[in-house]
Amino acid sequence: MTQDEMKRQAAEAALDYVQGGVVGVGTGSTVNHFIDFLAQVKGRIEGAVSSSEASTQRLRARGIAVFDLNSVGSLSLYVDGADEANHRLELIKGGGGALTREKIVAAASDRFVCIADESKLVEVLGRFPLPVEVIPMARSYVARELVKLGGTPVWRENFVTDNGNVILDVAGLAIHQPKELEQRVNNIPGVVTVGLFALRPADRLILGSQSGARQVEAMAV
Ligand code: 5RP
Repeated sequence: MTQDEMKRQAAEAALDYVQGGVVGVGTGSTVNHFIDFLAQVKGRIEGAVSSSEASTQRLRARGIAVFDLNSVGSLSLYVDGADEANHRLELIKGGGGALTREKIVAAASDRFVCIADESKLVEVLGRFPLPVEVIPMARSYVARELVKLGGTPVWRENFVTDNGNVILDVAGLAIHQPKELEQRVNNIPGVVTVGLFALRPADRLILGSQSGARQVEAMAV
């Protein structure tokens, strides 16, 4: 089975969590599969809150209404992918550059179901370069501050986020204390969002694998 087939499998399994109402929808290739499955049950839901322009377009193209988060209040369910997940269901996200809106929708949701293929599960976060969304004028300053934290930031050139900002991808971090690092990076002036989802981790992880989709619950620490 290919990696994409495993993503598809995880996306299909997430449909079990869809109870109706307005569903929070993330961004990325795994979520694209989820949007396609959601279209099959669109009569059961009122619509979606989207975390990116790309997902909004895909949702609308499949006849799913997209609502502004401000008009719906809190959500019962958010479904999104990840670039890495550890056993506490803390995540690295933002490979697609949608981390800020993803973090907002995750924060506004009662339950966050993360969908991924099994290659995304790691012991220690950080092999995937950590995306950080930054106000453009602060790019060099924030990069220097990230070097002080032990990382190697690389400007994602020719990429602008949906919010008009830039992304620094920080390589070389072995993230043993994700909550602490999330707070430290968030406190650097000019940082909009760090792609660490540890203060608000996923509640459930569905991993597509060679032997079928399996559900992972957060391991107690
Ligand atoms: C986008 C994200 C995605 O969830 C993450 O990059 C995973 O993407 P994919 O499902 O394509 O592997 O955080 O900002």
